[in-house]
Order: sequence, then C-alpha cells, then structure tokens
Amino acid sequence: MTHVLSAVAWPYANGPRHIGHVAGFGVPSDVYSRYMRMAGHDVLMVSGTDEHGTPILVQAEQEGVQPKALADRYNRVIVEDLHALGLAYDLFTRTTTRNHYAVAQELFRTVHRNGYMIPRTTTGAISPSTGRTLPDRYIEGTCPICGYDGARGDQCDNCGNQLDAAELRNPHSRVDGEVPQFVETEHFFLDLPALAEALGSWLQDRSASGDWRPNVIKFSLNLLEDVRPRAMTRDIDWGIPVPLPGWEENQNKRLYVWFDAVIGYLSASIEWARRTGDPDAWRAWWCDPAARSSYFMGKDNITFHSQIWPAELLAYSGKGSRGGEPGTYGALNLPTEVVSSEFLTMEGRQFSSSRGVVIYVRDVLARYQPDALRYFIAVAGPETQDTDFTWSEFVRRTNDELVAGWGNLVNRTASMIHKNVGAIPAAGALTDADNALLAATGAAFDGVGSLLASHRQKQAITEAMRAVAEANKYLSDQAPWKLRTADPERMETVLHVAAQAVSDCRTLLSPFLPHSAQTVHEVMGGAGTVSPMPRIDEVDDLDGGPGYPVLTGDYRVDATVGPWRRVPIVPGTPVGAPTPVFRKLDDSIVEEELERLRANSRGCFRPGRGGRADDAVPGR
Ligand code: MF3
Ligand code: ZN
Repeated sequence: MTHVLSAVAWPYANGPRHIGHVAGFGVPSDVYSRYMRMAGHDVLMVSGTDEHGTPILVQAEQEGVQPKALADRYNRVIVEDLHALGLAYDLFTRTTTRNHYAVAQELFRTVHRNGYMIPRTTTGAISPSTGRTLPDRYIEGTCPICGYDGARGDQCDNCGNQLDAAELRNPHSRVDGEVPQFVETEHFFLDLPALAEALGSWLQDRSASGDWRPNVIKFSLNLLEDVRPRAMTRDIDWGIPVPLPGWEENQNKRLYVWFDAVIGYLSASIEWARRTGDPDAWRAWWCDPAARSSYFMGKDNITFHSQIWPAELLAYSGKGSRGGEPGTYGALNLPTEVVSSEFLTMEGRQFSSSRGVVIYVRDVLARYQPDALRYFIAVAGPETQDTDFTWSEFVRRTNDELVAGWGNLVNRTASMIHKNVGAIPAAGALTDADNALLAATGAAFDGVGSLLASHRQKQAITEAMRAVAEANKYLSDQAPWKLRTADPERMETVLHVAAQAVSDCRTLLSPFLPHSAQTVHEVMGGAGTVSPMPRIDEVDDLDGGPGYPVLTGDYRVDATVGPWRRVPIVPGTPVGAPTPVFRKLDDSIVEEELERLRANSRGCFRPGRGGRADDAVPGR
C-alpha cells in the first residue's frame, strides 16, 4: 500500500467547463484515482478552482461584476459540472480560502528567507490612454524566439517558451490594439538559475524512471536549456498580498496567480486534513519520501508543473544552490509524475467559449449519460496526441460499443438468468470454453491494472472491452437459450460463467464507467457500493472567511465486492428483470447538436469547413 497524491489541475473560475477541459485533467485523474483506490492504495485526490489573476479579472470586467463575485458564481458551476461527471475528489476547494492564503504566504516567506526570491526592477506595460497596468496576457506580439506573431506577453503558444511582455516585437493590446507604454516597476523573481541544478537532477531521475510520457519529459528537460529568473509578483489588485513589510499594504502588488495556484495542491491537502480532524494527516503524502504523486493537466500547463512548482518546492525545502532551511511544513516531496494530455478539438475546430464554439459538460450531461461522455473521453481522448470530438463519433461509440457491447452483455446475461433461473445459478463441470473465458477475464485484472497504473488508459479500456467482446462471443457460441429444454444443467453452467465474466468486466470497467458499474452490480443482484460517488458539501471557511461548496466523499469501496480482483459470484443471489443500463442514441441527435452549435456560435461554427481556425483567440 502506497500513499498516492492525485493532484489535478485547478480550472479557472471564469466559466463553466467544456468537454475539452475535462478530457485533459478531469476524467484521466478520476480513472487513475479510482483504480489506485481499488488496488488498495491510499489515494488523496485534490484540486479546486483557480480564482486569481487576469483570467478572472478579464471575465469579471466582461460580466460587469467584482472578481470575487465572478469566482463565487463559477466556483459553484464548476463544482456542479465535476460532480455530475462523478469525479471522486477527496477535496475540491478554491484558492480564495483563508487557508490557501496562509499556505501560499508561508511558501513565499520561506522561499524569500532562503534567498530564492530576488527583487528586481523591470519594465511593466501600462495603457497610455488609461494609465492602468496592462497584464501580460493582454499584450500580444511577435515571439522573439520563434517569430510566431500571436505570442502573448506571458507565453508563446507556438514554441511554448515563457516570455516577458517587454520582449515581444510589435507589442499591442489585445483589447483595443493600443501600443503599450513600458514603465519601471519592482517585482520578486524566483531565482530559477539557483535551482536549476537541483531541478536537473530531479528531472534526470524522473527521466530514468521511464514513467513519463516522452513528449512531457522531452519538453521539461528542454526547459532547462534556458533558465532565467521568473517574476512571481504582479502589478494587479486581485490576488494574494505579498507577505513582506512594505508590500503587504500595497493594493496594487499581488502574488502571481501561477505562484499561488500550484500551491493549491498543498493547501488543499492541508485543508482536507484539517477537515478530517487530524490536521497532520496530509504529511503522509507530502513529507514521506515513499509517497507518490501524479499531477494531471493539459499540455499548456506543463511548464508550471515540471519547472515552476518543483522549483518552489525545492526553494521552500532549502535545496537549491543557496541552501536554506525548510519552513514550518518541513521538506516537501517533488512530483513523481507529470501526466499531461494533449488537446481535444471539436468537429475539427478549437474550442472557444467566447465565440460559443463550445460544448459544455453540463449541456452534455443534461441530455446524455455521464458514462457515455466518460467512455468517449477514455477511448478516444487526447492521451498522447490531439484528438477530435464529433457528435457522430459520440453516437457511434455509444451505440456500437457501450450499448451493443457492454450493455448488451449485461442485459442478455441478466435477463436469461432472471427468466430461466431467477437467481445466479451454480456451475456444473466446466468445459474448455468455460475455462478459456474465465482465464481471459481473470487475466485482464493484471493487464488492465498495470496499464492504468502507468497512465495508459486508452490501452487499458481497450483491453477491458476486449474481455467484454470475448464474453459476448462466448454467449453467442454457447447459445444458452437453445439449452433450456435440451440440457438445463449445461444452460445453468453457461449462465454462471457468463455472470462471473460480467462481474469481472464490471470491476475492470468501473474506474472508467463508475455510474454504470454500480448499476450493473445491482442488476446482477449485488449489494454494497462498488463505485462510490462524490457529494457536494456546503462548508464554513476554516478560518472565518465566507462559506463555500466543496466536492468530497467517502471513497472506500465495499471490502468484499469492490477491490481490483475477481469477486466470486454467489449462486442463489436473486436476479430481477433488468432494465437496459445504457440508452441507445438516435442518429438524429447529430444534426440537432450541430444545429445547436451553429445557433450558439451565431455563425462562427461551420462544420465541415475543416482545418483549425484561430477561433480560440478572443479579441481578434
Ligand atoms: N487554471 C489553470 C488553467 O486552467 C491551471 C492551473 S493548475 C494549478 O490553465 F495547479 F496550477 F492550479
Ligand atoms: Zn515562440
């Protein structure tokens, strides 16, 4: 048994989540965490909404509300989105809690005390017409490194390099095209060069483990080629105050949103522990070197998880070239794995919430089953390369694979047992065919399990569905419906073997399809919880701030029927008349959904045009 931290990227509280978001961080982290719990590990899965920085300010301005009010609204919406998908967070909180402020400030203070936060005078952009600071993301121009002309002031999305707005060629405001004016301003920079050696040996070690996806390790190692100090404060009035004399009172200086967001993994773990009544419980995941941690995100977040966050942790722990002493939390573990996915597109286009070229999780779940969406993401999601969501593929996969494959196996097994026996039958002597099927579904536990443990979820679900296909073929070959009068004893043996295969497949699929796993278990007469679900609790802030909703749950699986292994079925267990587990979709929904997209995007979405437009860039 190992302590496993599942650290899931924090979505910005600036809108509802679309299916691209949950394909990147949501479903993969939940599948992994559910599997690891079933396999007996002690999993702590944490995240929350990311509520500071310009992404929140921009949206608040657009909606004409204060940033905190905007964050309150979308924090709740996102909690509901993730809940509806069945994502089993131990704690999904937010970055505006007092606990998070205190933890983020403790990290800043210690990193500063250890000498890794260096003050520097730099140039910042202001708008000549209003005199207000122009945040990096508001500025666009040509990348000085690769020449891409849509680079932003914080990062180039073409070559992935982090930038300073002042380095851009032809800088202009994305809001109104105005050319910014650059003025002097003082900021704290994280001294990455002083941490580069420690970062390098950690990454070399991670690279040698062979656990990381090739793209991710290559990208991360590459970042070490050009290590420069990075500003960790901003001229902005929304965020966590900089906890130093002379700075704390300054309304216009705040911690950089990315500095505080990644600290959320730690602060959420601490909040979780405080809420359980054992305030030190988080240490088992953060201070014991034997613990493991997997961080889940989309590829645009890699830099912050394979460089900035490890650097913050090293600096906090006093492990850079300047030495130092750990702060009150002690020396903290670095990530074991950075699990990054690629991007999901939709009907060949990039998602763009601002243009309505988007499919929201809540809209999908209002009309379709959560496991149908989870299935699509698991089997056709952007695990190691960009993939495309299309409504016609969604319908095809749901109908041909979920309904006609897995659903059909459950349905015909349960209804034959119900009609002909009324309860799980006992087995007589087993034939070679019986043994072959049982051997195949039994062997799948190791196969699917090791794929899941190493984040190869597409292969894992394909293996699990292969077991389903073998069971379906077995039923067709054995044709128990023909044995009813000729050889009822043999019929019962076949149905017994099929029921055991259904039970095995139910376990194999439950990390992916937790809602239907529970239904299948009950259809087959089972009792107890095999796939626990999250709940939404309204909680008080632990330190006197305003209350908020959290996602949490008790995810212990039933000890007899829940673990990752074959659970022998119990002859005599009554089986009722089943209702289908999955709903078949009518082909007409494809045209309905495309029509909805066209209407919501007021003409921006034209399917079949092919290619990728620059839809994802607002303000163009
Ligand atoms: N809010 C960021 C995004 O949506 C992700 C932050 S991940 C964190 O891109 F861990 F740093 F919070
Ligand atoms: Zn570039």
